[in-house]
Amino acid sequence: MAAHGDHEHHEPTAAFDFAEAAPRFRERADAETDRYRRLAAQLHSPEDRVVADIGCGAASMAFALAEALPAARVIAVDAEPAMLDLVRERAAERGADVRAAQASVDDPDALAAAVGEPADLLWAGHVIHHAADPQQALAHLAGLLASGGRLAIGEGGVTAQFLPWHVGVGRPGLELRLIEAGSRRLENEAIEHGSTPLTYGWNLALERAGLTSVRTFSELVAIPVPLEGDDLAHALNSLAMRVDWFERYLTEEDGAAWAELLDETSPEWLGHRRDLHHLAIETVHVAAKP
Ligand SMILES: C[S@@+](CC[C@H](N)C(=O)[O-])C[C@H]1O[C@@H](n2cnc3c(N)ncnc32)[C@H](O)[C@@H]1O
Repeated sequence: MAAHGDHEHHEPTAAFDFAEAAPRFRERADAETDRYRRLAAQLHSPEDRVVADIGCGAASMAFALAEALPAARVIAVDAEPAMLDLVRERAAERGADVRAAQASVDDPDALAAAVGEPADLLWAGHVIHHAADPQQALAHLAGLLASGGRLAIGEGGVTAQFLPWHVGVGRPGLELRLIEAGSRRLENEAIEHGSTPLTYGWNLALERAGLTSVRTFSELVAIPVPLEGDDLAHALNSLAMRVDWFERYLTEEDGAAWAELLDETSPEWLGHRRDLHHLAIETVHVAAKP
């Protein structure tokens, strides 16, 4: 989990501070509702009785599953108490029966206690790559499944992009370098955890975790120019979050360009532009316990 503050040699840690990000997760949650409804429709089976959203963040998948499966027990699990507060707030607002429970994907006992009984469906979106040992984390999750239960992970795919190649502030390719900075931070996070990143794809990782019938599918997110309303807000929120997270891995020149582009009082503020798009590929891998 995010260990903050100074590390050895007083280097800031590469681990992500998800508590700090919770307000941004809250802001962007409503814009995700439809996507998670579609995904829940693809992943659930009407017989599912115990389902969980692991590393849930704002738990948009848990809420989508609760809608699709009104009789099921739905648990939203996260290592970060601030995210669980957010889940409880959202559950109360919606009158949704989603329980929030704390556990890290690195801790099999805490996971078992959080989920409570053998699960029919586990969803883990963009969290396994933050585990101390991603292959172990998949094994822990596989261990929570009922026979015939499914583990679905949102990993891989193509990171969302919103900007033209050159925005006229800073050098061309600003967004590509932000994505690359994110990759370097993840690499450093793994080094700090003392783990090596997986050197094989997620389909093989699921097989090595003892699961079978692995299938993979991808959804194209293609919202054309100009982004407006919630879509524009989502783009600005995503970019601001990444710039906060990856700033230390950017050159000073790129950092200054992003500061200007994300400053609402600047004439260069991205919110003024009519040429932003949202292009992404969300990939999901699903596997079953024999
Ligand atoms: C990138 S966010 C993804 C949130 C959500 N699943 C989604 O796809 O939008 C990662 C989430 O995993 C949580 N997290 C990070 N490390 C974790 C760990 N070791 N165990 C459980 N949750 C963790 C964070 O607090 C955060 O809510």
